[in-house]
Amino acid sequence: MAATKTYLTGIQTSGMPHLGNYYGAIRPALTAAESNDSLYFLADYHSLNSIKDPAKLREDIRSVAATWLACGLDTERTVLYRQSAVPEVFELATILATVTAKGLMNRAHAYKAARDRNEAAGGADLDAGINMGLFNYPILMAADILIMETDVVPVGRDQAQHIEYTVDIAQAFNHLYGEHYSFPIPEGAYPEGGGSILPGVDGRKMSKSYDNHIPLFMPENKLKKLVRRIPTDSTPVEEPKDPDASVPFQLLSYLAAAERTQDVRKRLEAGGMGWGELKNELFEEIDTRFGPMRDRYDELMAPGSELDGILEAGAQRARRRAAATLAKVRRAIGID
Ligand code: ADP
Ligand code: TRP
Repeated sequence: MAATKTYLTGIQTSGMPHLGNYYGAIRPALTAAESNDSLYFLADYHSLNSIKDPAKLREDIRSVAATWLACGLDTERTVLYRQSAVPEVFELATILATVTAKGLMNRAHAYKAARDRNEAAGGADLDAGINMGLFNYPILMAADILIMETDVVPVGRDQAQHIEYTVDIAQAFNHLYGEHYSFPIPEGAYPEGGGSILPGVDGRKMSKSYDNHIPLFMPENKLKKLVRRIPTDSTPVEEPKDPDASVPFQLLSYLAAAERTQDVRKRLEAGGMGWGELKNELFEEIDTRFGPMRDRYDELMAPGSELDGILEAGAQRARRRAAATLAKVRRAIGID
């Protein structure tokens, strides 16, 4: 029998996830977690680079954890934890920094993009407004991955450079200390064909940064209003319409059963179905599918819910694994 592989992924804690996150990341990850040794963590110290409001950071961490649990993450099979609850990660990051070339960090996309923005704005100091947390981000991410002796990291394509850096850093360590301990070399697992991208209410990619997203667990009345406000053209009810050019139809096709989508497509193409009716259908589909999860989400978000206990239990499991790796690393480098 093949040895089981360890899968690990980090989730940014940046507010309540939306429909795009669900179909693009959460659902595929939950499916993969059913058959692998999986670890999911909330990357709260990564989020601290951009979120400086403690109340928001706290709320976002709980919200993202509650979302994954409400969507069906099984904490018997999968270890769910907060990065911040595993201090071994930060010790490993310090150790990894001593084998990481600064030049490698200078070439990191996120850091370079921040410098390019400063250059484009005509500033004299290209490092203006860039903190060391952003600069060190790839090292912390390497520590997240290597501390769990991860084999596979399922992430979006935008994270490919971070995975390459993790491999470089692990190899540098292994080259120096391999006689005593070697990290397994991890690989990235990227969505096939780039994955499907859900449109936001304005037709661009659904994203929090465009503020065009449909949060997963909005209260019912707000959800209804948001869906009603999705812009559509002024084709009258009785005229034929192009379903593929309409955002509500594209979203419906992710949510509804295939026959239902086909039926709506025919009615739009034939004329007689108005955009208002289509939006009602979309609202119903979202509400039916996500309503029960929303109830669970609300329970978990209530103060004093079992959420904190679940995260604590996950942290204990994660720490046991992290401490075992760190002990081997410390021995290998001569700090024990
Ligand atoms: P946002 O753009 O809202 O900030 P993130 O960049 O935090 O979202 O994305 C988190 C995860 O959700 C990533 O794996 C990303 O690929 C996925 N994702 C985000 N937006 C979409 C979308 N519109 N369609 C499909 N997947 C998406
Ligand atoms: N950088 C990842 C993102 O922006 C989040 C992340 C942090 C991560 N540490 C990780 C992902 C370790 C995979 C493994 O989405």
